[in-house]
This record gives sequence, structure tokens and C-alpha cells, in this order.
Amino acid sequence: LASSEVDLSAIQPGQAIKTTFRSQPLFVRHLTPKEISEADAVDASTLRDPQTLEERTVDGKKQWLVTMGVCTHLGCVPLGAGEGEVRGEYGGYFCPCHGSSYDTAARIRKGPAPLNLEVPEYKFTSDTAILVG
Ligand code: FES
Repeated sequence: LASSEVDLSAIQPGQAIKTTFRSQPLFVRHLTPKEISEADAVDASTLRDPQTLEERTVDGKKQWLVTMGVCTHLGCVPLGAGEGEVRGEYGGYFCPCHGSSYDTAARIRKGPAPLNLEVPEYKFTSDTAILVG
């Protein structure tokens, strides 16, 4: 199966991009310190799909959040990765199909989706590039 390389160098803090991986949308987000604090402030054990930001990112690279852009409810593409897009009440991603809101760690916080946005297998190939898959 094909891997995809993603160049991170142009993604500014606070910005998220939408690209593709194995024909599906992939979100790559550069979290701000505030977004990291917001994610860390949540007691993960209270979440529907309990995971910390640490568990969803690479060691020492917590500012890079890499997830599939596929809502875990019925597979729509959530908003929030792109210019001026709606991020929902938890500041992450918002699925307009049935109103699922994801937080700054792309964890499900409200709405019908059962799970967090999926984190694919990936690794850093340099400080500014990842290889997904
Ligand atoms: Fe996203 Fe239903 S597909 S909320």
C-alpha cells in the first residue's frame, strides 16, 4: 500500500491542512500552545473515546496532530481544515452532516460520532516532514 509524504514546513501554528491518504481526506494540524493546553486540560477518562493528546501524537511533537478527515459517525468530511472554516464549539473540527464536534486533539466531544478522528500510522522523516502509512 502506498505511503504519502506530507511537507509540514508551510503549516503555521493554528493552521490545519487537508490532503489525502489512500484516497481519503487527511488532516494535518499545527496546534498552538493554547490549543495544546485546552486539550491537556481535559480529563481524558471523562471522554467518550478516552485518549490524551499525548497518546494521539508523536513523542516530543505534540503540536502536530495528524488524523483522518473522516467523521466516525457516517463518514462525512468534517470542517476545520482550511481557510476560515468552522471548527465547532470545541475548537477542533465540526461535522456538518449531523453536528459532531471534535476538540483540539480531534476527540469527539458532542454529537453522534462514537470515536475520535482516527490517527493513521505515520512517522517523522525530518523536523518538517512526515510519512503516512
Ligand atoms: Fe459526521 Fe454524522 S457523519 S456527524
